[in-house]
Amino acid sequence: MHAAGIVAAAGSGLRLGADRPKALVELAGRPLVAWAVDSLLAGGVHEVVVAVPAEHRDEFAAALPGVTLVDGGATRTASVRAALGTVGPCAVAVLVHDAARPLTPPDVVRRVLGGLEAGARAVVPVLPVVDTTVAVGPDGRITGAIPREAIRRVQTPQGFDRRILDEAYRRLPASAELTDDAAVVHTIGVPVQTVEGDERGAKVTVAHDLALAESQVRR
Ligand code: CTP
Ligand code: MG
Repeated sequence: MHAAGIVAAAGSGLRLGADRPKALVELAGRPLVAWAVDSLLAGGVHEVVVAVPAEHRDEFAAALPGVTLVDGGATRTASVRAALGTVGPCAVAVLVHDAARPLTPPDVVRRVLGGLEAGARAVVPVLPVVDTTVAVGPDGRITGAIPREAIRRVQTPQGFDRRILDEAYRRLPASAELTDDAAVVHTIGVPVQTVEGDERGAKVTVAHDLALAESQVRR
C-alpha cells in the first residue's frame, strides 16, 4: 500500500514562545519537524509533504533537504488542505502528522498503516485518560463527572484512505477550523478506527514539554 505523509508544520508556536516557528525549534540539535518526518519514514511511509509557514520557507528547505514543502495556511486545517493538494498520484493512503510530535515511535505509524491495510478508512492512535475527569461550568464549579472509560486522548499520525480524505476536505467549508483530521472525515460520516497510541508521541506545546522530550532523547 503506497502511503504518503503530510506533516503540519506551519504553526507559529505561540504557547512555546521560542524565537522561531515551533517546528524549527531544536530537540537534541535537530529541528522538531525533522524528527517528525523521520518517524513517518521509519514507520513505512513512502513520501512526505510538509506544510510550512510561507515566510520561513528557506529555513525549512535547509532543515529538510529533498523534502517537498508547501506553503501552509492560517489554521492547521488550511495547512493540511494545502499539503493534500500536492500528494503524489500513487498514494492510496495518507497519514497526517504534527511536526510538534517529534518522538512518535515508528511502531505507532505501523499500527496506523496496519489498520488501513486491514480495511479501515480512517485510523487514529489514542491513549486512555488516567485522571478523574469532570465538566466545569462558567462559575468554576464542577457540573458533573465524565466517565473516563469512555474517552480517549487523540494523537497523530492519523491515517486515511486517500479518496476519503480528499472528499472530506473537498466538502469542508473553506473557513472550517478543526483541530484534527479525524474530525474532518467525521463531517462526512466516515467511521474512525482507533489503535493504541504511545505516550512518547506527546505533543510539544509549552516549554516544559520540550524539556521532557530532551530527557526522553537522553534516555
Ligand atoms: N499547524 C499548521 N498550520 C497552522 C497551525 C498549526 O500546520 N496554521 C501545525 C503546527 O505546526 C503543529 C500542529 O499543527 O505541528 C499542531 O498545532 P499546535 O501544537 O497548536 O502548534 P502551533 O499552532 O504552532 O502552536 P500554538 O497553538 O501554541 O501557536
Ligand atoms: Mg495552534
